[in-house]
Amino acid sequence: MRVELKNIGKKYEGREAFTIRHIDLEIESQEFCVILGPSGCGKSTLLRMIAGLNSITEGELLFGGKLMNKVEPKDRDIAMVFQSYALYPHMTVYQNMAFSLEMRKESKKLIHERVTEAAQTLQITDYLYNKPSDISGGQRQRVALGRAMVRNPAVFLMDEPLSNLDAKLREHMRVELVRLHQDLGTTTIYVTHDQTEAMTMATKIVLLDQGKIQQVGAPEEFYNRPENLFVAGFIGSPTMNILRGTMKEGRFVIESGTVSVRPEEADRAALQAYENKPVILGIRSERFLSGENGDNTFEAVIEVVEMLGKEKLLYAKLADGQQIIISQPGHFVYNPGEVHNFHFDVEALHYFDAETTQRIV
Ligand SMILES: Nc1ncnc2c1ncn2[C@@H]1O[C@H](COP(=O)(O)OP(=O)(O)O)[C@@H](O)[C@H]1O
Ligand SMILES: [Mg+2]
Repeated sequence: MRVELKNIGKKYEGREAFTIRHIDLEIESQEFCVILGPSGCGKSTLLRMIAGLNSITEGELLFGGKLMNKVEPKDRDIAMVFQSYALYPHMTVYQNMAFSLEMRKESKKLIHERVTEAAQTLQITDYLYNKPSDISGGQRQRVALGRAMVRNPAVFLMDEPLSNLDAKLREHMRVELVRLHQDLGTTTIYVTHDQTEAMTMATKIVLLDQGKIQQVGAPEEFYNRPENLFVAGFIGSPTMNILRGTMKEGRFVIESGTVSVRPEEADRAALQAYENKPVILGIRSERFLSGENGDNTFEAVIEVVEMLGKEKLLYAKLADGQQIIISQPGHFVYNPGEVHNFHFDVEALHYFDAETTQRIV
């Protein structure tokens, strides 16, 4: 089901300002759309409006072209999964999953089919006759998913469904959710504050900050082409390195002369307008290359070396004191206190306006 949001806004009763506003968004049928952003930015508010649990202050919500603003949640053909999965403790897994269908007075046969099918997909068949207290947190979260699945909704709405799970299980469930989505093809709108979840699961990411959309796009676009400094800093781990400098004679330089880079051809035209002006340069840690390479070379003092296996993270300092994180292959040898030459992969540099923090294009 195609979901459209047109200029959607929410102002809670008794509040002065809108919590979110001017949200324009198209979610295609079968998409896995992740609404991402820091705590308090309005993700749940938005999802609850789509679900019908929050009223819509302004704008239009459409499902398959039909206006949904005043439609009751139960008539929206959605199923929701929350962070706290709140299973009924006195019911078996089977009964928990069957409950909503029983409320709808579906036949015993259909209920049995749906529950056993969902249980198979989620690999919880062995626990169908256990009580929630007898199964693990991960299994319970799967039951909560199953409870949503049996309803066979047009849209899944999920609000941080993995937040209560430990790291290992969360990783596992991420893959399961992607697989599930590939199998079922159900349009999914998934809320999280975790950029890794967004990057690994989404076909489309919507990044919110303070109730406003910062960028919409595929994970690759977020990683390779952040539209502003907030996006650049929010996506990717380690965080993108940010260097403050000035454009001088067509080069990005840091005042003390410690760093001086000649932008690649494609970036030069846009940067001409910034001659003698402050510019912010962004570079991901894996885009620093070791060794010298002409006049794009700089020196860095290694302060801390973090061995992560396939890569090493070098926490290093430039001569003017700015700190950077450099990623290098795990088998390269570096020691704290050493000074090394590095250079920039000029094709992987991001330039931002120091005042507006918007990407310079
Ligand atoms: N029922 C409510 N009444 C008033 N303000 C609310 C209500 N629910 C949430 N808010 C406020 O709206 C803002 C966004 O909250 P929320 O949508 O829960 O953010 P997120 O899910 O991104 O953490 C917060 O400042 C929160 O305090
Ligand atoms: Mg929330």
